[in-house]
Amino acid sequence: MTDTMAIDSFQWVASLADLEQGKTHQVTVGDREILLCHTAQGVFAVDNLCTHAAAKMCDGKLKGNKILCPLHGAAFDVRDGSALTRPATLPLGTFPVQIDGDDILLAVSGA
Ligand code: FES
Repeated sequence: MTDTMAIDSFQWVASLADLEQGKTHQVTVGDREILLCHTAQGVFAVDNLCTHAAAKMCDGKLKGNKILCPLHGAAFDVRDGSALTRPATLPLGTFPVQIDGDDILLAVSGA
């Protein structure tokens, strides 16, 4: 029962074919903007708003496993959301991702 509920909470958000490695893609789930980041280690999902001053991370650059904020340049690790450089100190929210064939599925609680 618990496993079924966990699987049901994942929802389709994009096709893997539309997200080349090294690229990002913004999606909206409920009222949350989420940024998909395709790195050599897989696809990760983080909040699209920087924790420093709410810049849109979709306007930043993905470099390896790091996403750089477009406004003041803080770097975050997309794998766990951790803030790697100032001025950001708080992590980005992250979301579980499943890949099923060409489908990218996200679990977003409360959405
Ligand atoms: S808004 Fe992102 S580092 Fe300032």
